[in-house]
Amino acid sequence: MKTKISEYINEIHQTSIEKFEDRAAGVEQFRLKFLGKKGIISDLFEQFKTIPNDQKKEMGQLINQLKVAAQEKIEEFKSFVEEHQDVDEHHDLTLPTEFLDLGSRHVLSVVMNEICEIFSRVGFTVAESVEIEDDWHLFSALNFPPDHPARDMQDTFFVEKEEGKQEVALRTHTSSVQVRVMEKNQPPIRIIAPGRVFRNEAISARAHCIFHQVEALYVDKKVTFADLKQTLLYFAKEMFGEDTQIRLRPSYFPFTEPSAEMDISCNICGGKGCNICKGTGWLEILGCGMVDPNVLEACGIDSKEYSGFALGMGVERMAMLKYQVRDLRLYFENDLKFLKQFDGII
Ligand code: DAH
Repeated sequence: MKTKISEYINEIHQTSIEKFEDRAAGVEQFRLKFLGKKGIISDLFEQFKTIPNDQKKEMGQLINQLKVAAQEKIEEFKSFVEEHQDVDEHHDLTLPTEFLDLGSRHVLSVVMNEICEIFSRVGFTVAESVEIEDDWHLFSALNFPPDHPARDMQDTFFVEKEEGKQEVALRTHTSSVQVRVMEKNQPPIRIIAPGRVFRNEAISARAHCIFHQVEALYVDKKVTFADLKQTLLYFAKEMFGEDTQIRLRPSYFPFTEPSAEMDISCNICGGKGCNICKGTGWLEILGCGMVDPNVLEACGIDSKEYSGFALGMGVERMAMLKYQVRDLRLYFENDLKFLKQFDGII
């Protein structure tokens, strides 16, 4: 009996919780084995009754020693289980983690940032302004005649249009930022203004009531059309590739004189003619011109001392041409199948 008891004590000391596959259940089994009603210790106490009296003292002490050892071990196991409750012991920490489904930048933001970046490399800084504009900044200061069709309800979302009050509208173009900047700053001015614009148009594959523009403005002494042309060529090559060619066609905008529209050689067919450029080999890209002296004067800049150029382009169209997007509505539908195609471009 003596050796049995010291074997049990040894067993208790050597039992580690790591041995149990299910820790909580293992601890309970261990408790029942030693301290349960039909366990080893109660069995030993039964046997204790039958041993000779002269051995009782020593045996009693030994059995008690065993009991204390078992109780202490169980306490130790229990606090271990409690501390490690949150850890799933079946979790394999060496497994590779699951990939997070990361979002990506919207293609319009990517293209808008790229345009700003190209201009910032030649000294333009970003200017931003309000989306709800008054008549002065949207039209009057930009030399729009009072009866210009853009001032009509059909093209513009008016917020306030009351007799005798200045009209307020959602801005129809980012050219209004030109006015805001020139009113507050004297030349040299070199800004790029990206932003959202709004027009009262039926939504289709080619038109939307909300879209994005980037406007550029450069005003200084002796700015000429040659500066404009060189800036445009630089921009076109950076945006669409080194082989890109440009051509300028005379046009009309109230705020520039002379005005032009710029085409680039079709980046799909390389100028041979395809269905994107409708067989012409050229793609219309932006409007531009020399800032009309009336605009400079309206903003408090001396048009005899200073001259400038301005240009404006649609971001949706740029992205369409760069990534061959066929339908403008895709930009705003939040269809992940469409958006995921631009994963990874920054
Ligand atoms: N604001 C014009 C538009 O919305 C675009 C534009 C044309 C801006 C010529 C300019 C410019 O600065 O010079 O269609």
